[in-house]
Amino acid sequence: TRGGPVIAVDGPAAAGKGTLARRLAEALHLPYLDTGLLYRAVGRLALDAGQDPAAPAQEFAIRLQPTDLQRTDLRTPEVAQAASKVAAQPAVRAALVETQRRFAQAKGAVLDGRDIGTAIFPDADVKLFITASPATRALRRFLQLGGNQSAPDAPARIAELENALRERDNADAQRSSAPMRVADDAYVIETDDLEADAVLTKALQIVRERLAGITE
Ligand code: CDP
Ligand code: CDP
Repeated sequence: TRGGPVIAVDGPAAAGKGTLARRLAEALHLPYLDTGLLYRAVGRLALDAGQDPAAPAQEFAIRLQPTDLQRTDLRTPEVAQAASKVAAQPAVRAALVETQRRFAQAKGAVLDGRDIGTAIFPDADVKLFITASPATRALRRFLQLGGNQSAPDAPARIAELENALRERDNADAQRSSAPMRVADDAYVIETDDLEADAVLTKALQIVRERLAGITE
């Protein structure tokens, strides 16, 4: 048995999973793990080694160190794409499963990713699937990366980001090893018309109802 509840936050790229999961964890006093960072770090190490991220990357996953996750160069589109390539490899995913499960063992946790509610914690206490249209998500990522919406090249850069997000979403949803999908018992939150604050309010409501139901 675990020392606290597990809350799974899954969804496509730049939907606002991390923002929500971090704030949920804070509100509920639970540890938070950004599982995308694990795959990003493995992708980064593969690129550093001069390797095609589609080539076997299991070694990088096995030897992953906490300091690899603290690197400041993991948030680029290039690394996101490399992450998606290494994440499609069953051996890479297998090497990271225990790390994720152990993280929640002592106190429970909020984890965000693609397969938390389906593969890592199929028994999670609460499963949320956060989504938005590709256009909304591309704009969110553009602004998050410091983009200026009134710059002359903004529309082209946002369109480019949208293409990259769509490609990565397709790869993540089509792969055979733990593909991104909505768990049968997940609550889907459509966030196109919701600010991050409103998403948090909605998610907290769902979580509190679910957790109250469980302890009754
Ligand atoms: O922040 P964003 O949603 O753009 O990406 P991320 O969550 O950091 O994930 C980067 C990539 O890692 C994803 O495109 C997935 O291919 C992979 N990933 C995964 O396969 N399983 C997870 N639990 C988390 C991320
Ligand atoms: O983790 P994921 O890739 O799903 O997204 P994120 O990095 O948490 O969020 C992407 C950007 O969208 C951040 O700059 C958020 O402030 C913003 N945002 C959000 O998270 N939720 C909304 N409802 C609206 C915007």
